[in-house]
Amino acid sequence: MPSDSAASPTTPALASPTTPALASPALRSPALPLPGLFVAFEGGDGAGKSTQARLLAEALRDAGHDVLLTREPGGTPIGEKLRSLVLDHGHGEVDPRTEALIFAAARAAHVAQAIRPALGRGEVVLTDRYIGSSIVYQGVGRGLGAEAVRDLNAWATDGLWPDVTVLLDVDEAEGRARRTAGDAAEDRLESEPDAFHRDVRTAFLELAAAQPDAYLVLDARRDSADLAGEILAAVGRALEARAAVVRSAPGPRGGRP
Ligand SMILES: Nc1ncnc2c1ncn2[C@@H]1O[C@H](COP(=O)(O)OP(=O)(O)OP(=O)(O)O)[C@@H](O)[C@H]1O
Ligand SMILES: [Mg+2]
Repeated sequence: MPSDSAASPTTPALASPTTPALASPALRSPALPLPGLFVAFEGGDGAGKSTQARLLAEALRDAGHDVLLTREPGGTPIGEKLRSLVLDHGHGEVDPRTEALIFAAARAAHVAQAIRPALGRGEVVLTDRYIGSSIVYQGVGRGLGAEAVRDLNAWATDGLWPDVTVLLDVDEAEGRARRTAGDAAEDRLESEPDAFHRDVRTAFLELAAAQPDAYLVLDARRDSADLAGEILAAVGRALEARAAVVRSAPGPRGGRP
């Protein structure tokens, strides 16, 4: 289930992490069974996260699912304000701990006000970035330490980890070319040098390698429609696994008395 563990016991395809130091939350809240499915899209800037999240939302809605498509930082009024504080240029210097705390604060609001309630209603929640981005950008890119940032975010979210994380892997040159196409301006993090984005990419791949059954890692250079098909198939399997667990669970939602 999409709460309280690094890999959901309700999605057998997504088994336990192999590197607990990176994978498991430091703080675990009591089990709160949530019937929805929680999917995060991660990857470098320009990898195609927003594109794939949107395509998946459309496909799932067409199939009759209730879907919350949301993004980080953001997804709540306070989160959107924090987004512009942390991503826009013009707020002067932002030290790494401040940056990590702003992202975590936005995430806390997002989980409490939007994600957990939607999962409780049985919706499929698709978030464009989540904790993995903080571990990688602030923990590794800014040098705060992956474990410290993971622990901060485990606390901020009361231990809510995705059931499925889709990692769109892109190299720094391709990512920058895509996001600056048409003269689009880069935000404060996007405009970091190539070396920063190279470290981010490596760290994302290491994070995924530490939890191979919780991640779907895809080459972001592939055709969009192809990628969308593979993501839909994987999420479909996770939904079937979730439905089977909900059906067999005791209590009011389950099939057993
Ligand atoms: N598979 C793909 N192949 C080629 N171009 C793509 C692909 N997916 C997305 N794009 C293009 O790359 C650009 C970035 O895509 P998108 O905005 O979805 O990425 P993102 O990961 O959300 O970026 P950001 O991190 O900046 O939000 C867009 O112009 C999009 O049309
Ligand atoms: Mg995007």
